[in-house]
Amino acid sequence: MYARIAGTGSYLPSRVVSNADLERLVDTSDEWIHSRTGIRQRHMAAEGETTGDLAFHAATAALQAAGVEAAEIDLIVLGTTTPDLIFPSTACLLQHRLGANGCAAFDVNAACSGFVYALGVANAMVRGGQSKKALVVGAETLTRMLDWGDRSTCVLFGDGAGAVVLEPSEEPGIITTKLHADGGYKHLLYNPVGVSVGFKPGEDNAGVRVLMSGSEVFKVAVKTLDRIVGETLEAAGMHESQVDWLIPHQANLRIIEATAKRLGLPMERVIVTVDRHGNTSSGSVPLALDEAVRSGRVQRGQNLLLEAFGGGFTWASALIRY
Ligand code: COA
Repeated sequence: MYARIAGTGSYLPSRVVSNADLERLVDTSDEWIHSRTGIRQRHMAAEGETTGDLAFHAATAALQAAGVEAAEIDLIVLGTTTPDLIFPSTACLLQHRLGANGCAAFDVNAACSGFVYALGVANAMVRGGQSKKALVVGAETLTRMLDWGDRSTCVLFGDGAGAVVLEPSEEPGIITTKLHADGGYKHLLYNPVGVSVGFKPGEDNAGVRVLMSGSEVFKVAVKTLDRIVGETLEAAGMHESQVDWLIPHQANLRIIEATAKRLGLPMERVIVTVDRHGNTSSGSVPLALDEAVRSGRVQRGQNLLLEAFGGGFTWASALIRY
């Protein structure tokens, strides 16, 4: 038994913030941001618009694409680092709003790998017979925890959400998923504020914001993604040449290009949204997947390689026959 993707959906807040807009906030330039990251613009949630709102729109679109009623959903796994509340989970808030009350619902926090982690967990539950219709969501409002005076981080992130509906299938479907973490890298990418540390801004008095050692993260990300794509292909018994589409986490175009090169894939076979979305963390992979499906590039029967890397560090992949 496998899990197959029955439908995809996504949602971006309507407000677009360009690099030129950021030039008015911090000492930066469109040229610097674009040449280092590939980003031209990002979307930003409106005041009062939450991660749960973004997740709801993406989930509704995925359910519609799958032809599945919310009441049929028996599992919701939602990847996010920016939940609406500390509790209940954003998955529970989403469940009630959709009218899927009673089913299992929980969040997964794996930073930017959140969606691929959620997909791995839901895949195991569908394959194990515990779910017949699973909703998997990646949703974030990362712009809510940025320091808008810190040019080294505020130019990188955006808000957005994507979702898929999974159902059992005798044919693959999701062929394999790989999930990894190494908490020894916490200091390179984190937000120091939390409940149990007493809501204090942290030893460096940094406040509620993303702290990142950009060039260190870059180097580890490239090496780690290189490793995981090899591991994933090996587990699936597949060769690089059998991958039709790379659907990577959208953090930085140069990281994406390095992974594509490792796979021997031309950039025409890589789904890129980072130019328009920035890094939407858990939202990025399902947003890219949905865009690729709706534009007609990704077709049924093709092999998709999804990968992500994020704070933790966490890293994860999924090889899917769509
Ligand atoms: N505009 C202009 N200059 C900037 C800038 C900005 N937005 N942000 C940083 N700079 C400056 C730095 O202050 C530094 O100046 P200095 O040499 O005078 O000190 C210079 O640019 C180079 O900084 P550096 O951090 O070495 O640049 P970089 O080439 O490594 O690019 C990133 C920075 C953040 C774009 C890059 O490291 C990156 O993408 N890392 C991965 C981050 C990521 O993807 N995180 C999420 C993972 S899920």
